[in-house]
Amino acid sequence: LDNGLALTPPMGWLAWERFRCNTDCINDPKNCISENLFFEMADRLVADGYLAAGYEYINIDDCWSSRTRGDDGRLRADPERFPSGIKAIADYVHSKGLKLGIYGDYGNYTCAGYPGSLGHLQTDAQTFAEWNVDFVKFDGCYAHPKDMDKGYPEFGFHLNQTGRQMVYSCSWPVYQIFSGMTPDYASIAKHCNLWRNYDDIQDSWASVTTIIDYYGDNQDVLIPLAGPGHWNDPDMLIIGNFGLSYEQSKAQMALWVVMASPLLSSVDLRTIGPEYRAILQNRAAIAISQDPLGIQGKRIFKDKGIEIWARPITPVVGEYYSYAIVFFNRRVDGTPSQVSVTIHELGMLNAAGYRTEDVFAGQSYGVLYPADRLKVDVNPSGVVLVRCSAVPARAFGRPPQQQLQ
Ligand code: DGJ
Repeated sequence: LDNGLALTPPMGWLAWERFRCNTDCINDPKNCISENLFFEMADRLVADGYLAAGYEYINIDDCWSSRTRGDDGRLRADPERFPSGIKAIADYVHSKGLKLGIYGDYGNYTCAGYPGSLGHLQTDAQTFAEWNVDFVKFDGCYAHPKDMDKGYPEFGFHLNQTGRQMVYSCSWPVYQIFSGMTPDYASIAKHCNLWRNYDDIQDSWASVTTIIDYYGDNQDVLIPLAGPGHWNDPDMLIIGNFGLSYEQSKAQMALWVVMASPLLSSVDLRTIGPEYRAILQNRAAIAISQDPLGIQGKRIFKDKGIEIWARPITPVVGEYYSYAIVFFNRRVDGTPSQVSVTIHELGMLNAAGYRTEDVFAGQSYGVLYPADRLKVDVNPSGVVLVRCSAVPARAFGRPPQQQLQ
């Protein structure tokens, strides 16, 4: 969607995977979907360095609203759990330099049974804008997938008509795919800033790998869709929760940055361990995610449990891209696997070479040339993420200023 937003994959925090539809604020006041949860997460995003690293959106998901619309026909927040209202949360997060996301559903009800927007598209877009919301995730439960080809653009039109800039996240293709339709991706990329293609992520390694396989197996369709303003969305980062080991957490981060995925973390920021926080905040990984070219990476090798993924990034030197490479070990044989490839075999042909560094180890391999071999030890269900930055050809005998003229 060409609305000037999401020129790089959006980064932030999203409530759903970790906090679900827990509305029991009597027995579980710290974890229920309430304004307190969002105030606390906003505080953590800023105080613990996430905002400084680029995580700017704090996004509400399902179960925020009242069971019924107000007498004026408008959506309203649950008065017990959100006594200050959504606008007050928006004002608070804006005062801290963050942006607020909200959740709606194109159908009659949200997936959890709260009021949907069907028949209220214009009103709800208007309401979100009046609350100063910056991001809308629009789900697709209780709707006919066939109607979405009209309905999602229509809601997008109303969002646009409000005059407020809001990122538009669509669940449009995933509901169509699961009902056996072939999505009209040209239209989806034109009308949405990001879109879910596949299953909801759950707190397990099996879920993460199933998602990775989907994006690898369908890459020829999905890669051309991605770019500044329009992204495939393989769903939230679950790093720091219960289901992933340390190695698996680095693997999710590496694959998500190489797939140019939105980085929407769903974790309890109050209790996340420091090593997981460091993965989420790894500056070199985030720089790959946010590379201005916005090209989605590709699975270029897959054999006997070893995969290699490559994403073209800046700097571009003449005809040569730089690359982020993920060496991904799916094996479970208990010892690290050594992978050894030449730079040339990875598709990198710049004769002046590539400045190469291991992103998570923070270690430099110096400049490698096409004939050089890159040898990495990849832990079971882990990754090595490498950045290879193309080196400009040396201009002999002239100082750099003169080269420009
Ligand atoms: C389905 C979506 O895919 C999830 O991300 C989440 O928003 C739930 N619905 C909420 O009910």
